[in-house]
Amino acid sequence: MPTLTIFSSVPARTAAEAAPAATSRPIPAVLGADLEVPVKGGRLVGYANLDYAASAPCLEPVSAAVTAALPAYSSVHRGAGYASQLTTARYEQARHTVRAFVGARPDDAVIFTRNTTDATNLLARCLPEGSTTVVFDTEHHASLLPWQKSVRLAPPAFPGEAVRAADAALAGIDGPKLLVVTAASNVTGELWPIAALAHVAHRHGARILVDAAQLVPHRRLNLTALDLDYVAFSGHKLYAPFGAGALVGRRDWLAGGEPYLKGGGAVRSVGDDIEWHDDPEPRHEAGTPNVLGAIALAAACDALTATGWTELVREEERLIARLRSGLASIEGVRELSLWGDDHPRVGIVSFTVDGYSAREVAEVLSSEYGIGVRDGKFCAHPFVRHLLGETDGGCEDGTASAVRASIGIGSTQEHVDRLVEAVRDLVNRC
Ligand SMILES: Cc1ncc(COP(=O)(O)O)c(C=O)c1O
Repeated sequence: MPTLTIFSSVPARTAAEAAPAATSRPIPAVLGADLEVPVKGGRLVGYANLDYAASAPCLEPVSAAVTAALPAYSSVHRGAGYASQLTTARYEQARHTVRAFVGARPDDAVIFTRNTTDATNLLARCLPEGSTTVVFDTEHHASLLPWQKSVRLAPPAFPGEAVRAADAALAGIDGPKLLVVTAASNVTGELWPIAALAHVAHRHGARILVDAAQLVPHRRLNLTALDLDYVAFSGHKLYAPFGAGALVGRRDWLAGGEPYLKGGGAVRSVGDDIEWHDDPEPRHEAGTPNVLGAIALAAACDALTATGWTELVREEERLIARLRSGLASIEGVRELSLWGDDHPRVGIVSFTVDGYSAREVAEVLSSEYGIGVRDGKFCAHPFVRHLLGETDGGCEDGTASAVRASIGIGSTQEHVDRLVEAVRDLVNRC
């Protein structure tokens, strides 16, 4: 099992401010780095994938792990045959790997889900009776919407304000409470002060769920050191696009919640009465699980851990700084940011271009330059509306939206420079 260097538990820090690992190993390659795509005029150009925050390409070691597991692929938890035992062992080993990857406590549950959305919805169904959730309007819809009873907080003007607002909201709530917050914004890439928020939550007897979908592909996370109760993330954003995600955290609420799916695997016995498993993993993983997804997810965790993170973070920071300063040098381009230029962030930049809708920009980038970005409100409608303020994001019909460029393993300086020059060309056409 991989050993992890843990984050400091000093509350005021963001996850990524903690010390990097001492050693770095080579960063693995991604599949499709040599993909060529057609552009106007029929030419083929190398694809500049700048849409990692939506779904990242597959890492080579992930593809290799899935390929290696396929010949023995068989049922899990049910068969006495050798292949079934081997596949079961691989599936359960994947659980251990994911647990280690996020630095979970030994007794934390690790439930394989389809993705982050599935994980937050699962937890929502397991909250104790009468629970209230506190959530910022800056969240992705996966973390904003699943809760039956929630208090929504306005986007905070600075990180300390986030902590103060959570503190005040939690103080006014009776009964079980859960604070939900993202570790890294899918709109701005900005890192949230999750250790300080965990501290505040616990002071009020609340728990904290961290949406780590955009953090774990970019930074080491340690649930134990940060004193988090739950984390959720998706394999397809973590270079493991095989349909698995995970919810990791404290067992008791998960053991008490309604089984997420009712069927084989979730029950101990069925007669006149039904005896459900009270172990969270079988209880919430009814039916045949996504074994290859779990194996892929674990292979991505292993591959990222093996890099030691240092070089990976350094290269990402170099490229994102270059991208941001390039975009800032173009008149009429505005980067979206909640907490200002200097706040630490992962490799995500959202921006608007005067005179163009986000859709127009994204389409030109694709059709003329072979660049893939995302446009829209990124499933974070309240947050994007807030960031765009009075502006219309280039759309006269008021459907404000932005362009998002995001990077990761396999992103190159040429990709970044191509995007900046393409946006500059576009602006010069006006
Ligand atoms: C911060 C964040 N949370 C949750 C999600 C939802 O992830 P998924 O679509 O894999 O469920 C996303 C996806 O973009 C995200 O960026």
